[in-house]
Amino acid sequence: MKKMVGNKILKKVTAAILATTFIASSGYSIYAASLRESWNNAASTTTTGTTLQDGSVVYSNVYADPTAWASWKTDWDKIRKNYEQVALTPGKDASELNFGWYSYTEETPAVRLTDSQGNVTGQTFYGVQDKNSLSSVTENAVTTNLYPNKVKITGITKATTYYYQYFLDGGWSETFTYKSQNTDAFSVLYVGDPQIGASVGQAATETNAFTNTTEYYARNDAYNWNQTLNNAIKANPKLSFILSAGDQINQTSVDSAVKILEQQVEYSGFLYPSALRSIPIATVIGNHDSGSVNYKNHFNNPNSFTEEVGASTAGNDYFFSYGDALFVCINTNNYNCQTHKDLIDKAISAYPNAKWKVLMFHQDIYGSGADHSDSDGMILRTQLTPIIDKAGFDVVLQGHDHTYSRSYQISSDSNTYTAFGKTVDTKSSAFLTQNAACYNILTNIASTNKVINPKGTVYFEANSSTGSKFYQLITTQQNYIAARSQSWKPTYSVIDINDVSLTVRTYDAATNKELVADGGIQTAYTIVKSVEKTNLESKISEATNLLSDTSKYTQDSLANLQKVIAAAKVIFDNAESNSVAVASAYTSIDDAIKALINSDAQAVNTSYVQPAAATQQAGPVTGDNPMTLYICLVMAVLSSSLLITMYVADRKKRKAISNDECI
Ligand SMILES: [Fe+2]
Repeated sequence: MKKMVGNKILKKVTAAILATTFIASSGYSIYAASLRESWNNAASTTTTGTTLQDGSVVYSNVYADPTAWASWKTDWDKIRKNYEQVALTPGKDASELNFGWYSYTEETPAVRLTDSQGNVTGQTFYGVQDKNSLSSVTENAVTTNLYPNKVKITGITKATTYYYQYFLDGGWSETFTYKSQNTDAFSVLYVGDPQIGASVGQAATETNAFTNTTEYYARNDAYNWNQTLNNAIKANPKLSFILSAGDQINQTSVDSAVKILEQQVEYSGFLYPSALRSIPIATVIGNHDSGSVNYKNHFNNPNSFTEEVGASTAGNDYFFSYGDALFVCINTNNYNCQTHKDLIDKAISAYPNAKWKVLMFHQDIYGSGADHSDSDGMILRTQLTPIIDKAGFDVVLQGHDHTYSRSYQISSDSNTYTAFGKTVDTKSSAFLTQNAACYNILTNIASTNKVINPKGTVYFEANSSTGSKFYQLITTQQNYIAARSQSWKPTYSVIDINDVSLTVRTYDAATNKELVADGGIQTAYTIVKSVEKTNLESKISEATNLLSDTSKYTQDSLANLQKVIAAAKVIFDNAESNSVAVASAYTSIDDAIKALINSDAQAVNTSYVQPAAATQQAGPVTGDNPMTLYICLVMAVLSSSLLITMYVADRKKRKAISNDECI
């Protein structure tokens, strides 16, 4: 283990120094191993991209805003210590809502419904404080207990505004808002690896009290996380919930008080965005989340699979339904796939009529990143593929590889394969033969981003939503990959679900513009199920109503919608129109509605807003320091040859892949 940690540090140091060398120089050609990682440096004042040797572009800071960054730094001392922030998670269905939070006090947890002024108007819901899952934090030789509180509230009705307070340390919190959304047609946000603190080891451009400490990087990544969520929600104000595919935080270990403190601070940063008081978040356990109770204490997941065999310290598989969709979240740090199958069977038997089935887990079994898609990310492939195929999942959402990719529709080859352990040599011929053979790539979908009643499952890999760490794409694109991209910028996806279609659109998080994958392939992908002419008629009617909003939308975007409606009417009026034509017309209207541009659309305001109750404190001395950068560059040039030699030697030694090694 110590050796693995040493390897990891070596790799990070190598990457950081060589990356610095590259950004500073344009003529040197050693880059293949060194540029696996990059980050979004919130301290940087420039968004100008730097083109690397492989043609990719590293953006220094997509959220460059010195004023907002300065405010964030000033407030950080308050943000980092706020261990008691509540997280909303989806309930077992849309009629319920779950809450989880830490308190300093041993007490009966409760959530009560109020009006906007905090006057009690509704029921008070009581929950459970699990003292067996107690956590703590130690700083300046003072240890404070953190009591985990869980409450669920019931009776939620759709499209309703609720106000609530949660009980905290003998009193009630301030009043927060939760707006339930429609369940027949709804949108969810899908994000990958926020991993607060994962930029640790990158080349800092500031000098201050935190520089080169883990907390310096947690502060950086939490700032970006807040920016990404604010942008995504501003562009998509009616999100039903958020899906996070694991690695919410970076500090894996809790074997010392220092590391426990680091992890708690990272969770404080992760939970900081005010959106998380108002929008539930469904997460899965990433390898970085798996080793401590903090995950299960913060996230009150519904239908927790306590029967799970081999569960992680962090918690269990779980599932929930929303509208016509079933969401199953499994912990792939647990390599016992039979137990995951048991949970999936249980979920499906609970919701046998779910029209859409979505599975989420962390380790990408069909991804395209350089760091995991040919190593630990694929170890589970032979075992999970037939389970996923048989269960009929439409979509699988993955994380772990910090790149964007979408697979073709994939099915199982129906054969049985040997299960592999975490330490299998993924480069061995025996392993590669089995994994190469376990899936079928379904045909006739290579050139389209819309599929109708497809067989098999599509697998998505989400890039980093914070920019805390990016990986390169793997050199050779796998045959199962339909689209992939490393934009070196934070991204998020929005999944729109209704009774006819499910669409996943992926966006640049800073601009809210749709991401275009390598080769100009659009990232929007739509699965259509059972669309009838009556559905098309309703869609035409819905779209026609929007045409009257001439003041709300730009003329060009309305003209486009009008054109699409006219074409759809031709399809609708033609008795000979087949299901493909009807489906195409239906989704084209959906696309045109999604593409409507508000007339008063302003540039996205990414400014950080100070917390209302923030106590202004003297911040550390900060600021870009050219001398530091110069020293780094000189050190990089002097050190790069030695480190490259060490790095290459180290890579040759790394034949066994273990989960502990995952970064
Ligand atoms: Fe990660």
